[in-house]
Amino acid sequence: MATYQRIVLASRPMGEVSPENFRLEQVPVPTIGAGEVLVRNHFLSLDPYMRMRMEDVKSYAAPQALNEVMIGGTVGEVVGSNNPKFAVGDKVLGMLGWSEMGVSDGSMLRKVDTSHIPLSAYLGAVGMPGMTAWYGLTQIMQPKAGETIVVSAASGAVGSVVGQLAKLRGCRAVGIAGGAEKCAYVVDELGFDACVDYKAGNLAADLAAATPDGIDAVFENVGGKIFDECLARMNPFGRIALCGLIAGYDGQPMPINNVRAFLTMRLTMRGFIVSEHQDLWPQGLKELGALVAGGKLKFRESIAQGLAAAPDAFIGLLKGRNFGKQLVKLV
Ligand SMILES: NC(=O)c1ccc[n+]([C@@H]2O[C@H](COP(=O)([O-])OP(=O)(O)OC[C@H]3O[C@@H](n4cnc5c(N)ncnc54)[C@H](OP(=O)(O)O)[C@@H]3O)[C@@H](O)[C@H]2O)c1
Repeated sequence: MATYQRIVLASRPMGEVSPENFRLEQVPVPTIGAGEVLVRNHFLSLDPYMRMRMEDVKSYAAPQALNEVMIGGTVGEVVGSNNPKFAVGDKVLGMLGWSEMGVSDGSMLRKVDTSHIPLSAYLGAVGMPGMTAWYGLTQIMQPKAGETIVVSAASGAVGSVVGQLAKLRGCRAVGIAGGAEKCAYVVDELGFDACVDYKAGNLAADLAAATPDGIDAVFENVGGKIFDECLARMNPFGRIALCGLIAGYDGQPMPINNVRAFLTMRLTMRGFIVSEHQDLWPQGLKELGALVAGGKLKFRESIAQGLAAAPDAFIGLLKGRNFGKQLVKLV
C-alpha cells in the first residue's frame, strides 16, 4: 500500500451529528522513524464517548481537535517495526483512531494474544467496554447475591457484560433495551432474568413487573426517562454507577424528576471514567478474558465494512441501530 485512508473531524456538530462533520482523506503511508511501529488496523471501535469529544466544552478530556484524525481504539497487525518490543506480525491493541494505518512509538500499544480470544473482542468484552462494566459493577454497585440490579442499554457492549457479571455473582439481573429483538437476546442468549423494552410504551409498569422486590443497584448508561423510572423503584441505600447518559449526547434535553428518591431512599451515585482506573485493569481483564475464553461471557458485534462506513455507523450507534459492540472492519 502506498496510501491509506483516514477520517478527520471536519466541523463540530450543531445538534445531531451529521456525515458532513467528518472528512475522508487519502494520505501516503509514512516511513517510520527510530523506535516507531507501523500498524495496519483490522478493526476500529466506535464508542459513544466520541460524540462528547466532538464538542468544545469542559469535560474530563480535551476536545477532539479539528482536522485531526478522529480518536478511537483499534486492533491490528504490526507491518513495520523499529521498536525492539514489537515484531512484524504481532497483533496489537492501540488508539490509532479512525484510520486504516497508524504509527506509534509503542507507548500506547499492547500486544494481544488471539489464540483463545478473537482480535475484535479486545475492543469489546475484553477491552474498554468490558472493563467499564466490570469497574462499575464491582467497585460502585458492589452487589450482593440475591440483590436486583438494573442496567440500561442492556444489549450493548457495556450493558451486556454488566448483566452477565451480575448473574455470575448471584444477582437478579434486569436489562432495559430498545425493541423486542434486543430484549429477547438479553434474556435468551445472555441469561438476564428479565429485560424491559422501553419502546413498548409501558416503561413504568413493565419495570415494576420485572423488579418485584425493587432495585438495589443501577448501572446507568442512558439517562432521561429510563433513569427516572429506575430512581422511582430504588430500595433504601441503593447504589448507582453513573456510566453514561447517551440519550443526551446528541443535543437532546434530559430532565430528571425523581431527585427526591436520593433523599428518601438515601441513595449513593458515583460517576466514573474507566480510563482513570488503570490500576484495576489487569484484575478486571483477567476475569473478563478467562470468561470469554471459556465461553461463559457472551457478546455480539455490529460490524460496518470499510472506513468510509464509519460516520454512518457512528450516527447509528447514537440512535440505537447497533446491536452489540459497534465495530468497523478495515481489512
Ligand atoms: N464512564 C465510562 O468510562 C464509560 C466507558 C464506556 C462507555 N460508557 C458509556 O456506556 C454507555 C454504553 O456504551 P456502549 O459502548 O456499550 O454502547 P452500546 O450500548 O453498545 O450502544 C449504544 C446503545 O445506547 C442505546 N441508546 C442510544 N440512544 C438512546 C436513547 N435515546 N435512549 C435509550 N437508549 C439509547 C441504544 O440501545 P437501545 O436500542 O437499547 O436503545 C444503543 O444501541 C454509553 O452511555 C457510554 O457513553 C462510559
